[in-house]
Amino acid sequence: MPCKTPTSPNNSPPWAPDPPRVGQALRALRARLRENPDSADPAAQEAEWLLAHVLGWPRSRLWSHAETPLSVAQWDQLAALASRRLTGEPLAYLTGQTGFHALTLAVGPASLIPRPETELLVETALALAVPAAARVADLGTGSGAIALALAAERPHWQVVAVDRSAAALAVARANAEHLGLAGRVHCVQADWCAPLAPAGCDLIVANPPYLAADDPHLPTLRHEPRSALVAGPTGLEDLARIIHEAAASLAPEGWLLLEHGWDQGQAVQDLLTAAGYRTVTGRQDFAGHDRIGLGQRPHP
Ligand SMILES: C[S@@+](CC[C@H](N)C(=O)[O-])C[C@H]1O[C@@H](n2cnc3c(N)ncnc32)[C@H](O)[C@@H]1O
Repeated sequence: MPCKTPTSPNNSPPWAPDPPRVGQALRALRARLRENPDSADPAAQEAEWLLAHVLGWPRSRLWSHAETPLSVAQWDQLAALASRRLTGEPLAYLTGQTGFHALTLAVGPASLIPRPETELLVETALALAVPAAARVADLGTGSGAIALALAAERPHWQVVAVDRSAAALAVARANAEHLGLAGRVHCVQADWCAPLAPAGCDLIVANPPYLAADDPHLPTLRHEPRSALVAGPTGLEDLARIIHEAAASLAPEGWLLLEHGWDQGQAVQDLLTAAGYRTVTGRQDFAGHDRIGLGQRPHP
C-alpha cells in the first residue's frame, strides 16, 4: 500500500519486504479507504469486498484465514484497486459485480449500476394483478437488472429487455446467460417502445434516464454512462416519451411502471393523467419520497 499503512520506525510497512497476510492487508486497506469521501459503504466493508474479489474468495472466508499470506501480485492488484476507488470509481465497477434483488449481476462501465431503490420498482411490479403468463417489457434495461429479477421471480412471464445501447445490452445478455434466464429474457437493441407490438404488453416497466443536464450530482456519477443518466434540459424528457409511446403498446388492462427522481412524483403522475392513464398512483421509498409512478392503459 503506498500510503497510510501501519509503518515501522523506518517508515516501511511492518511486513516489508514481503506482502502482508490477509488480516494485515484488511487493516491497511481499511485505513486507506477511509480517505474516500464518496464511499457509500463503510471503509471496512469496502475493504472486505475488494480483498475477497482479489483473492477470489467469499467475504466470510477472510477472517477465518487471516494468517494466509498474499502474493506480491495480489497485493499490487489490491493497491491499484484502492487507488482507483480513491478517485471515486464505484466499488461495483472494481469488483465487476453487484447484488440486485435476489441476484448477483455483472456490471461494467457500459451499464448503470443497479440501485437499491430500483428494487421498489421490481416489488411493485410483482404485486400487480397481471395474467399468469404476462408479456412484459423492460425499457432501458442496462445490465438487465429489472428484466432478470422479474423473470427469476415469475417463471411464466415472457420478458423483452430493450436498450438503445449495444454495449449495455451485451452486459444484459451476459447476465441472462449466466443466470440461466436467456431463454426467457429476449434482449433487443431499440429505441423505447419501437419493438413492441400494438397492445402487446401486459406490463411495461422502465427506469429511464431522469436527470436534468445540469443536475449537480452528475460529477459524482461521472464513471457511469451519461446516456443512462441524463434525459435532457428538464430530466422529464424520456419519462414523457415513454408515457406517450407506451399507451399503444399496452394490452387493455396493462400497467406502465416508471422509476423517477425523488422530486418528480407529481410531474410524472400529471403526465400519466394528462395522457389518459387510469388508476394513476405512486409508490414511496423508505425516505418517504415518491419514486415510482404507475397507471393502467388509457381507454381508447
Ligand atoms: C437509468 S439506466 C437504467 C438501467 C437499468 N434498467 C437499471 O435500472 O439499473 C437507463 C437505461 O436506458 C437506456 N436508454 C436511454 N435512452 C434510451 C432509448 N431512447 N431507448 C432505449 N433505451 C434507452 C440507457 O442506455 C440505459 O441503459
